[in-house]
Parts: sequence; structure tokens; C-alpha cells
Amino acid sequence: MTTVDQPRLTVGAFWGADPHPALTWLRANDPVYWDPHGEVWGITRYADVKEVSVHPELFSSAGGIRPDQDATPMMIDQDDPVHLRRRKLISKGFTPRRVADQKARIDQITHALIDRVCERGSCDFVWDIAAWLPLIVIGDQLGVRADQYDNLLRWSDDLMRGQGQADDPVLIEKMMTAAAEYGDYFNGVLADRRANGGDDLIGVLVNAEVDGERLDDQTLYFDSLLLLIGGDETTRHVITGGLYQLLHDRSLWERLRADRSLLPSAIEEMLRWVSPIRNMARTVTRDLEFRGKQMKKGQKLLLLYPSANRDEDVFDDPFRFDLTRSPNNHLAFGVGSHFCLGASLARLELESIFTALLDRLPDLRLAEETEPALRPATFVSGYEGLPVAFSPTTPH
Ligand code: HEM
Repeated sequence: MTTVDQPRLTVGAFWGADPHPALTWLRANDPVYWDPHGEVWGITRYADVKEVSVHPELFSSAGGIRPDQDATPMMIDQDDPVHLRRRKLISKGFTPRRVADQKARIDQITHALIDRVCERGSCDFVWDIAAWLPLIVIGDQLGVRADQYDNLLRWSDDLMRGQGQADDPVLIEKMMTAAAEYGDYFNGVLADRRANGGDDLIGVLVNAEVDGERLDDQTLYFDSLLLLIGGDETTRHVITGGLYQLLHDRSLWERLRADRSLLPSAIEEMLRWVSPIRNMARTVTRDLEFRGKQMKKGQKLLLLYPSANRDEDVFDDPFRFDLTRSPNNHLAFGVGSHFCLGASLARLELESIFTALLDRLPDLRLAEETEPALRPATFVSGYEGLPVAFSPTTPH
């Protein structure tokens, strides 16, 4: 039990320092927590995050999944049946077959990224490798050409950095510019795929049909934006945070090198541990009582995945990073009808990058002792940089 007396956690704010002592206190003492600063409920226990997620009739996504914003037209901000119809259409781009077919391309991107740095003997792992893999994977799917990857990184970063920053006009301006520039680019791709077809995701989605229904241009734009912001930084932070854990306690890295059969459970543990999505919001649909608390219609509550994933009622020794943890039914990808559509793709990327790193940079190590800083963000967060070193080696 931690020694924190009372929580000082604004649940929807940027957690610059380790939030876990306060989250642990809340799970034990005030698990459904009214945050007076953010004016939002914080749901801290695993069982409650699950319960709220599977009752959209009481806790709706249609009020928007951010605590401080209204709903957008993205499918993540809709309830069933509207959401389900959209999800069935978008899922055509994420069939197990389509995801499996991407493996070779993902491996090719992974190796090209390592090739770029392997002769140097050091790099910033976030900005030289981890930021690019998910970005290029999703960029390929969205029809973004290689000469636009730098722009895509800027758009993605600016879109995420502006979340929850209504008081910072510079960040908001950048977020709006990024959405507009991405929109212009995407419209060009869309027009081309409508005219000429194509086998990337947009090519599939422009022709996808469920019950005689197709996606219109506006819907395609918003859901492509959802795929970009959902699929990019999230995966980046699990790659980076996972690597940090392995190198911080080097025995973990060596154990994985010696026994690759541990990689799948190691990846699940990275997802549990990092939980890069801090929270998703739901809106209470009518006055109700939940776990003894009176909730009012229209109030928002936050599903605090990082807290649920350290819940001592569910995970043995939850603060131990355990390569062999089993079972490991973490909630990093959410639960219920909005369960992450990109979960298999993210797992494939994690498998690709860690396999390549273990093979090609066996003495990879942290270049600095101290834990790297987190990037300021209220929605998706992870390390801002991660200097690493290794013995120089030749490109593939
Ligand atoms: C939904 C996490 C990677 C696309 C979600 C949700 C979570 C999540 C927690 C649930 C939202 C809710 O219930 O309101 C993650 C994590 C990832 C990851 C931790 C990486 C490690 C990806 C990737 C893609 C993606 C690679 C696509 C390329 C989506 C989409 C949804 C979603 C489209 C909305 C699904 C719906 O509304 O039905 N993700 N995600 N995610 N994710 Fe992911």
C-alpha cells in the first residue's frame, strides 16, 4: 500500500510525474473518483472500466471520447447501431487476411529503419526508429507517398499535441492547420481511388459496401484521421516504453534474446505496462447511481486504462514487468464494441521491430541512466526521446 494520503490527480490532465501512486490510492479508497478540477469522473478499477465500457446505453460514446470536447463525426464518437454499421465497413480494411498480408511490408520498413542508423552506433530510438514504423505502416494504408512522410509525422504530432490544450492558442492553431493540410492531401488520394481504384486501405474503403451502404467522402476523411491518430503515436509509445523496460533491466533483454518464444507474452506485458492511451471518455445518459456515487446525466467519466492495467485485484504483483505474465487480459486496447480495430496490426508491428532489434542490435543499451521525459499530452503519452547505443553493424 502506498503512503499517498489523498489524491492530487486531475485525471484528464497531463501527468508529468508518475501517476501510479495516486491511482493506486484511488483504486483502494475512492475508485470512482469525482475530480473537482477536471469536473469529470475517473474510473480507476479494472472491473469498473469493463462494466462502463460494455454498457453504452448508460455510458455513451456519442458525447465524444475526449473529456473537454464535443463529439466529432469519427466512428469512435458514435454509439451502435450507427457505429456498428461504420465499423463493419472500415473492418473490410482490417480483415485477418489483409493484416497478415502486411507482414512482409512491415518487416521491410523495420529493416530499412535499422539500416539507416546501424553504422552509427547510437541514435535517438524514438525519433530515428519508433516514430516511423507505425507512421509509415498507416501512411502506406492511407495512400501517403514516401515524399510526404515528414509531413505526415508533423500532422500526426500536431493533431495529438493539441488535444486537451484549449488554453494554448499556438498548439490549437497547429492542430487546426494539421487537420486542414491532411484533409487537402487526403482529398487528392480519395479522388484518385474513386477514379482509379487501388489495393490500399482507401482503395478498399471507397468500394466497401454493407447492406447496400457505402462510406461518403466526409466519413472517409474523419475515419482516416481516426486511423492516423489511433494507429500512430499509440504504437510508437508501446515500442519505446517496452524497449525501455527491457534495457533498464538488462536481464529481461538477455532472457528474450535467449528464448524468443517469450516474445508474444512480452509484447502483451509491454501493452499492459505502457497503456499509452491515458483515458477515453463516456457520457452518462441519465441520472444514475454507480458504485454508490450519484452521477448526473451529461457528466463525463474517464476510463483510466493505465490504472485498470495495474489493478491488484486482477494482476498478480502488478508493478512487476513480467515477460511471462499469464493470464494477461489487459485493457490497453479497450473493451466492448469500440475494442481497438488496429490491435492485430499493432501486435504485428511490435513483433517485427523487437525481432529485428534482438537479431541485429544484440548489445543495444540505454545511452543515459535517467528515465526519459514524457511528452506533455493528456490523451496519448509516452517518452519524448530515448537515446540508445549499440555496436555499429552493416546494413542489410
Ligand atoms: C480504438 C488503443 C493501435 C485504430 C481503440 C481503443 C483503445 C485503443 C483503448 C478503444 C476506444 C474506446 O473504447 O473508446 C490502441 C493502442 C494501440 C492502438 C494501445 C497501439 C498499441 C491502433 C492501430 C490502429 C487503431 C494500429 C489502426 C491502424 C483504432 C480504431 C479505433 C480504436 C479505428 C476505434 C474503434 C471503434 O470505434 O470501433 N484503440 N490502439 N488503433 N483503435 Fe486503437
